[in-house]
Amino acid sequence: MQDIIDKEREIYIPFFKRLSVVFERGDGCWLFDVEGKKYLDLVAGIACISIGHSHPLFIERVYEQMRKLIHVSNLYYTKPQIELAEKLKELTGLSKFFFCNSGTEAVEGALKIARKVSGKRKFIALENSFHGRTMGALSVTWKEKFRKPFEPLISPVDFCRFNDVSDLKKKLDDKTAAIIIEPIQGESGVHEVSREYMDAVFDLKEKYEFLVIFDEVQTGFGRTGRWFAYEHYGHKPDIITMAKAMGSGIPVGGVGVTDEISDRIEVSDHGSTFGGNPLACVASLATIEVIEREKLVDNSEKMGKYIRDQLESMGVYARGKGLMIGFDTSDAPGFLSKMLSEGVVVNNTSEKTIRLVPPLILEREEVDFAIEKMKKIGL
Ligand SMILES: Cc1ncc(COP(=O)(O)O)c(C=O)c1O
Repeated sequence: MQDIIDKEREIYIPFFKRLSVVFERGDGCWLFDVEGKKYLDLVAGIACISIGHSHPLFIERVYEQMRKLIHVSNLYYTKPQIELAEKLKELTGLSKFFFCNSGTEAVEGALKIARKVSGKRKFIALENSFHGRTMGALSVTWKEKFRKPFEPLISPVDFCRFNDVSDLKKKLDDKTAAIIIEPIQGESGVHEVSREYMDAVFDLKEKYEFLVIFDEVQTGFGRTGRWFAYEHYGHKPDIITMAKAMGSGIPVGGVGVTDEISDRIEVSDHGSTFGGNPLACVASLATIEVIEREKLVDNSEKMGKYIRDQLESMGVYARGKGLMIGFDTSDAPGFLSKMLSEGVVVNNTSEKTIRLVPPLILEREEVDFAIEKMKKIGL
């Protein structure tokens, strides 16, 4: 294990602060390191592996497609791309889709679309937001540490205080192209946008005629106990961005829009070489098939409640919905590394916050295993 860690330091650009474990194999909710040690995975590649590692049906579908056709240019039609768009129409209620390869690219696409169709330039984002690392997505990402070294970024962007309607009213104007919102902020430590705030956003939308972008890169595909988190609010956004769980680890992202938006988009406004290739689209279709067959959206809600109840019985208040869970502890990095030694993978979003975004196939016995370890370590 140590030789891989040492080699990485020699040859990999140091963008990541990694934990000292080298994973080799996954099966369901479990990961195995190169020395054969087993870990319960409560991170799932950060909300990506919702159907669990090495799902047999997923592997079969992807294998079959690999044998047939992996990639052709978007200059030609392919069946899986159209089938995926059709399926997403059913799941999101939006009308037209574009596919890319990651969350940040989905956000880039959404921002470009918003500027193009509104003819306006300004974006509103929320404090503590995270939308990605490319220049556009970074411009609407809150943390100054991420943004500062790369300025000038796109502008104007105004950040509004989280769940503060009066601040939103101050910053909105008729130059605003769009507001971009994570319905439940993930990277900030799992914080939900309130219903009142969302109601105000949709009220003000009428007055200023801006677009509402929901960044569902992390919350999509059943994570919060609904197919998409917008369903918790009773308001449908104009644009949805998606990625992460969409392809169960095969890189695929997407942007969904209404008909009114798509009517104002022209050829060459945007594009991608790999985006929406047959392999990625089949990976996404297979993911959706497994989520539907195994009723994983319901399981997300059920297991999320079970974890919250267990944590509450330990005196810990857990935020979030479904299997998107955040809670605070005095030393999150310390807790994380002790859990890792005990064979449970968790994630920390700050010095004090632990985030759990496990596979949606999680079962009670697995939750009990994790809770037992938490009790042993102490929170
Ligand atoms: C809400 C949200 N948007 C965008 C991104 C960026 O996605 P990616 O890392 O696939 O570029 C993330 C990643 O964590 C995210 O949580």
